[in-house]
Amino acid sequence: MTTLCEKYRGKCFLDVKGQDLAVDRIKAFIKIFPSKKAILLHGPTGTGKTSLAYVLAQETNSEILELNASDLRNREQLEKVLKPATQESTLFGKGRIILVDEVDGISAADKGGLPELLSLIEKTKFPIIITANDIWQQKFNLLRQKSELVPLKALNYKTILLILKEIAEKEKIQVNEEILTSISIKSRGDVRAALNDLQAVFQINKPEEIGERDKEDDVFNVLKQIFKNLVNHETLRLYDTVNMPLDEILLWLEENIPYEYHGEELAKAYEVLSKADVFRGRIHRQQHWRFLVYQNILLSAGVSSAKEKPKIGFTLYKKPSRILKIWMSNQRQQKKKSIAVKYAEYCHISVKRAMREFPVIKYIIQKPEIQKQLKLEEDEIEFLSK
Ligand SMILES: Nc1ncnc2c1ncn2[C@@H]1O[C@H](COP(=O)(O)OP(=O)(O)OP(=O)(O)O)[C@@H](O)[C@H]1O
Ligand SMILES: [Mg+2]
Repeated sequence: MTTLCEKYRGKCFLDVKGQDLAVDRIKAFIKIFPSKKAILLHGPTGTGKTSLAYVLAQETNSEILELNASDLRNREQLEKVLKPATQESTLFGKGRIILVDEVDGISAADKGGLPELLSLIEKTKFPIIITANDIWQQKFNLLRQKSELVPLKALNYKTILLILKEIAEKEKIQVNEEILTSISIKSRGDVRAALNDLQAVFQINKPEEIGERDKEDDVFNVLKQIFKNLVNHETLRLYDTVNMPLDEILLWLEENIPYEYHGEELAKAYEVLSKADVFRGRIHRQQHWRFLVYQNILLSAGVSSAKEKPKIGFTLYKKPSRILKIWMSNQRQQKKKSIAVKYAEYCHISVKRAMREFPVIKYIIQKPEIQKQLKLEEDEIEFLSK
């Protein structure tokens, strides 16, 4: 499965949205080369730095020669890699562009390859593009002087919304505007994050998820017991019967409380919910899993006891669609991240890289032995099997 990020990686300058200034600057840079030898694209993650390097290569019919830290440190290797580059053009008459991607990651280790990069800038015959998130550290002083600095900005949410809409249209998947808007806002200018969220929503929108239906039946039943009955010996165990995390149940309660409770009950129920949410926050921030007990009590007995008398009659409960979708997409993102962190540590690569190469990594770590090595949790393994 290709990710949306891969599929919609830009092919021409027009595909790089909201970065007109950077596009103009890089075009100008390539014209004046070699009077400036290197351009340093810097800015927040997912704003098009790497894309722009590849687009430039496409547009100028050049090939990209990517150098990483170990290439830079290994003199022999560097000579070898650069050898063809010392001739005026490559074999097929293509130009060549040297890319040093994520230089701040590269030089994180003590032996950074930074001096080598600086000397490469002096003698290169081909334009060098360097990308970085943060270039204001002192160790980059010289690099900043020797290269043309070009900032890329976090994208405006409206621009991201346009990108998402265009893709949803191309994929012929209907996603309501409200969801697209909230993804755009939540992404805080990071197009990659937005595309990953969009992908999660696409996956939810596919009607094939039968398991989901059973889960919903279960949760409807449990809501009925919480809302209709008074607290009894079963109340505290009700959620054990639903295959759904408490955080998600909280969203179901939040959505349905007003259909069942009124007046004072309503106020009480939401009060309890807000307390549960406080615990939820502590659980996530401080990893105090013991608080799950309280979260469960509040969400079950707490919500149930907001009323004084049992309720009768039928209530049509609703699925908390909008927030649930966003929540689920976040959950996926988080699982992916926690797996990527383990993988990255094991393979000594950056978490960012692991996240980006996740589609491939996902294949690699399907084997149970490897999952064991990485010490994956059950839910992470389940995530991988989807
Ligand atoms: N300005 C943009 N216009 C359109 N799509 C974009 C833009 N920026 C990023 N994207 C999309 O997001 C994906 C990731 O972008 P890219 O790899 O260029 O980010 P980056 O700035 O290099 O991030 P990082 O700092 O994490 O390396 C791309 O595949 C592309 O689909
Ligand atoms: Mg990049």
